[in-house]
Amino acid sequence: MAKATTSRVDKLLSSMGYGSRREVAQLAAAGGITLDAAKLVDVSKRIPVTADLPSRMKIDGEALDPVAGMVILLNKPLGMTCSHKEIGKLVYDILPARWRRRDPAISTIGRLDKQTSGLLLLTDDGDLLHRVISPKHHVKKTYRATLARPLNGTEGALFASGDLMLEGEDKPLVPAELDVISDTEALLSVTEGRYHQVRRMFAATGNHVETLHRESLGGLSLPDGMAPGQWKLLREDEIALIFQ
Ligand code: URA
Repeated sequence: MAKATTSRVDKLLSSMGYGSRREVAQLAAAGGITLDAAKLVDVSKRIPVTADLPSRMKIDGEALDPVAGMVILLNKPLGMTCSHKEIGKLVYDILPARWRRRDPAISTIGRLDKQTSGLLLLTDDGDLLHRVISPKHHVKKTYRATLARPLNGTEGALFASGDLMLEGEDKPLVPAELDVISDTEALLSVTEGRYHQVRRMFAATGNHVETLHRESLGGLSLPDGMAPGQWKLLREDEIALIFQ
């Protein structure tokens, strides 16, 4: 079994957004930190950083936040941006405010447009993030699109051809799969993540995407009944489904 990394308590809690090291020390001195139900006062103490720490450590009586290595599945609502910086509503605003101060930072795995809803993953695990977005791993993303005009019947073959060149690009798209639901609704599965890819694919056929919702990524789907704006932490077995 891999050995858990250890960390000083002040450094760990500060990296998790609980305040500066000095603030963490003050909190401990005031009796606000417990480990295995005993008060922890010496914040220079090194402890193993294990996934079970939230069940053993309490901060002001509340379970510690998840330690680094988390993956969050969010049902992204319309109108929110996948950016740390832009003005307006950001997907990060949905998560606990303290999580904005974590180091390593939590980032979205790829992006959905402001006007796209659905399955969005966020993580503080940079290696995982790069593995998911790397074209090498061919992670399939499935979108439900509603269209302004009826499909003309040629889209499926064009998208599957591997010849479709988007405007302004010099490399054709790898084959994608279209499942027609009705004249103006379809599921489109792609393994790349080019800028506005799905909207531009339909635009290349003379159509226009009116609504766009991501239903699945790899073997992960949005859980039944998960409302826009709701999120959950993924377990190890659920994370593994990404690459299924
Ligand atoms: N393709 C798009 O056009 N927009 C998204 O948000 C995702 C894929």
